[in-house]
Amino acid sequence: MLLQRAWLVLLGLATLFALRSIYRLFFHPLRKIPGPKLAAITHVYEFYYNCVRDGRYIFQIEKMHQKYGPIVRITPNEVHIIDPFFYDEIYAASSRRRDKSVRVAQASGVLGSMVATVPHDHHRIRRGILSEFFSRRSILTMTPIIDKYLQKLGDRLGQFHNGKTVIRLDNALNAFTSDIITEYCYGNSWGFLDDENFRSDTRSALLEVANTIHLGSFFPWLIVLIRKIPIHLLRRLQPGKATIFEAMEAIFNQAASSMNKGKQYGIKTETSEKRIQQNMFDKLISPDVPAEERTLERLQDEGLLVLGAGTETVAHTLTTSVFYLSLNTDVLYRLREELKQKLPTPTSTVSLLELERLPYLTAVVYESLRLAYGPLIRMPRIAPTESLRYGEYVIPPGTPMSSITYFIHRDPTLFPNPDKFDPKRWLQGAQSEDLKRYIVNFTKGSRACLGITLAYAEIYKAIAGLARRFDFDLHGTTIEDIKPLGERVFVITRRGQTQVYVTVTDLDKA
Ligand code: HEM
Repeated sequence: MLLQRAWLVLLGLATLFALRSIYRLFFHPLRKIPGPKLAAITHVYEFYYNCVRDGRYIFQIEKMHQKYGPIVRITPNEVHIIDPFFYDEIYAASSRRRDKSVRVAQASGVLGSMVATVPHDHHRIRRGILSEFFSRRSILTMTPIIDKYLQKLGDRLGQFHNGKTVIRLDNALNAFTSDIITEYCYGNSWGFLDDENFRSDTRSALLEVANTIHLGSFFPWLIVLIRKIPIHLLRRLQPGKATIFEAMEAIFNQAASSMNKGKQYGIKTETSEKRIQQNMFDKLISPDVPAEERTLERLQDEGLLVLGAGTETVAHTLTTSVFYLSLNTDVLYRLREELKQKLPTPTSTVSLLELERLPYLTAVVYESLRLAYGPLIRMPRIAPTESLRYGEYVIPPGTPMSSITYFIHRDPTLFPNPDKFDPKRWLQGAQSEDLKRYIVNFTKGSRACLGITLAYAEIYKAIAGLARRFDFDLHGTTIEDIKPLGERVFVITRRGQTQVYVTVTDLDKA
């Protein structure tokens, strides 16, 4: 009897699956978009490549494009378009509504943050609260913070002068970016560069969180549930992940103390308002912010977002840059000659504006960004009310669409010989200016990276400072340690996370 019931249930499920497959193949609004039948029928196809084969769906998508053309139905409900000329349609400016997908938002684990805010209009409000904090004007006034930590990074690296000690450059650069984010956003640095091991445990913990994102996109309720568990309980349940809970706790405490400070000052009067407008949390509790947005959850999640979004990303770009400069010493020496005009000694400093005017440095910055790619994960946008047309195909409203940066940056029609680190491609006058449109590490449009100005400031300053002062020799590190084998948001290489080992020569001591 029991067996008979089990068979009936199985039969029922099989019938449902068959009917749903027929619908998805023959009646679904995306039925005309080319792609593998299996990907159109079931999410298990993506699950296999991203969860079982560890972030490899990106390369399966690449194969699909080789077979089916520039537009492909990559899951039952989602399309991917590899054409760089269509990029601005997907990642459109704020005049055209672009939502996030609920599944992606929940998987991020920071539901109270702007990056996980699904509806276009709500996202505009949340982003608007911090747009001034990350504006060009604000970043130009905070560059002394970048200079301070660049000096500290230089001094730490200088301790290893003369090639005997091998350094994990990626961890050192992560400590640099983490000190900047914690000081600028939270109001006090967490002392990453002071730590003997550059506090790499925090980075590892953040990457571990990123590792769960693929699984989370299939089981978003799991992530939502985990975030509801109090930290002290999580700590007991998972003692091995103490570092991430410590980081979360530090951010949550900081957020709570800002909330209390706001209450204490009443956040009403002009003077008290001025007194507390110092860090990102103070911005988030400013009286101009709608009351329903001034919650502890919002502060905590925006706080977590900036640490996740603003550290590994910039550090990876810098690591990639130093890696290629070490391999291409002709580029390094030419860059150093240009830098000497503005930085007469290895430890001189100069304003960001002056650095931005240097053509060869700018070329190295763009080429580094191109080969660093940014997050490799696809970042879909949804046009809730607009039908888009790509050639003969109509993309109906409500369809998640994406265009992965990795493919745009390697398009050989835009970037011939894409594997080559070649800053010269950025020195072709108007043509190169036009090419800058296709550098999309930060995506584009209404939901593009809010920290882009800070990121550029750090990248300009750090590449200039490091190239002027140090020679780096790669140690046991090859192109295979940079080359993506897959993604868990960020690149996965043969060693897992990016790992670049170097020895240094400090020209200030040489
Ligand atoms: C090279 C460095 C960086 C890269 C490649 C990068 C890339 C990105 C990308 C691709 C997004 C869009 C995410 C999505 O669509 O889901 C994003 C969003 C964001 N990034 Fe960055 N980022 C960088 C540096 C930074 C820095 C330094 C900060 C400063 C805290 C930052 C803060 C943010 C924030 C707050 C968002 C959310 C924007 C929104 O949803 O409106 N990022 N970033």
